[in-house]
Amino acid sequence: MTDKIKNPGPSTGDRKSEHVRLCLEEEVAGVGVTTGFERYAFRHNALPDLDFEAIGLETAFLGKKLDAPLLISSMTGGSAGTGRINERLAEAAQSRGWAMGLGSIRAAVEREELAETFKVRHKAPDIPVIANLGAVQLNYGFGVDQCRRAVEIAEADALVLHLNSLQEVFQPEGNTNFAGLLPQIGRLCRDLGVPVGVKEVGWGIDAQTARRLAEAGVAFIDAAGAGGTSWSQVEKFRSADAMRRAAAEAFAGWGNGTADCIAEIRAELPDMPLLGSGGLRNGVDAAKAIALGADLAGFGRALLGPAVDSAESAAAAMRQAEFELRTVMFGIGASGIGQLRGTDRLIRR
Ligand SMILES: Cc1cc2nc3c(=O)[nH]c(=O)nc-3n(C[C@H](O)[C@H](O)[C@H](O)COP(=O)(O)O)c2cc1C
Repeated sequence: MTDKIKNPGPSTGDRKSEHVRLCLEEEVAGVGVTTGFERYAFRHNALPDLDFEAIGLETAFLGKKLDAPLLISSMTGGSAGTGRINERLAEAAQSRGWAMGLGSIRAAVEREELAETFKVRHKAPDIPVIANLGAVQLNYGFGVDQCRRAVEIAEADALVLHLNSLQEVFQPEGNTNFAGLLPQIGRLCRDLGVPVGVKEVGWGIDAQTARRLAEAGVAFIDAAGAGGTSWSQVEKFRSADAMRRAAAEAFAGWGNGTADCIAEIRAELPDMPLLGSGGLRNGVDAAKAIALGADLAGFGRALLGPAVDSAESAAAAMRQAEFELRTVMFGIGASGIGQLRGTDRLIRR
């Protein structure tokens, strides 16, 4: 299966496999933009009144218990090879007690034979699984029925809509009419029957946008900020058009850093369930995301390579992030996620 991803043959046109291949093989991180986590440090507590072994990472999301406040960001599905990645990620997420996002299910809504590549519930019966669609599809023929179908295919607990305006501009087959989406998102929130969240894809959601989304009725927001995977960089490698390639290069530093997104959304919306993702590299970044106000911290591309390898490799990478997170909590004397969230030990350097 992974051969298909590494050596795309006649199916090179398969956009999903190509995205995965580029994310594994090319320099797709933003350039000249950072998450902003490097501007923060935890003030060490030399005498934690804690047993390291007793530190708890448990939390809950979408009404389900999680063993760690962590999420696999929406990535893939839609082709045989990427379906296999989803299965491995789901198996790892179930074993570690993380939440899991699936990549955009649009292809499977349009072509039933692809549905299989998003069916991970048998591998992950207990965790929150989140279906995914591009919000812009609401302007291109998708309504509540298609969104409901995406949720059914994945047997998902929620649907997250992604906002990816600039990716749509840079990808050859892009859907660029974003006008009038907010009321349609609001209607979907009312009619879908499962919680609807909104995420970016790595350029970040600012506080004003978050406020507008909250007023439209979204159930959660994923900041998905800059400093990690850049979709203008990814699309630069796919474009056959020299003008678009050069223009994409000019956007390598675009986007709102993840740390600022989390802090400003939390300040604007104290009660909104908030996911902090975009460029997280390890459990220390995850701890900073949570201390800045995120309820869960999300990892995307950092888990892709391990998942192409095996479910065990993905679970090992996830276990390491948990270990790092728990060690941060020991280092600041926080016994549980509630204390990490409320800590006064995160300082701006
Ligand atoms: C291979 C790949 C495919 C992705 N596909 C989707 C997608 O279908 N829908 C979506 O909302 N985000 C998608 N993303 C974006 C991620 O969910 C995430 O927001 C982004 O990669 C930034 O996080 P990171 O820096 O940890 O990778 C994808 C990311 C990767 C690496």
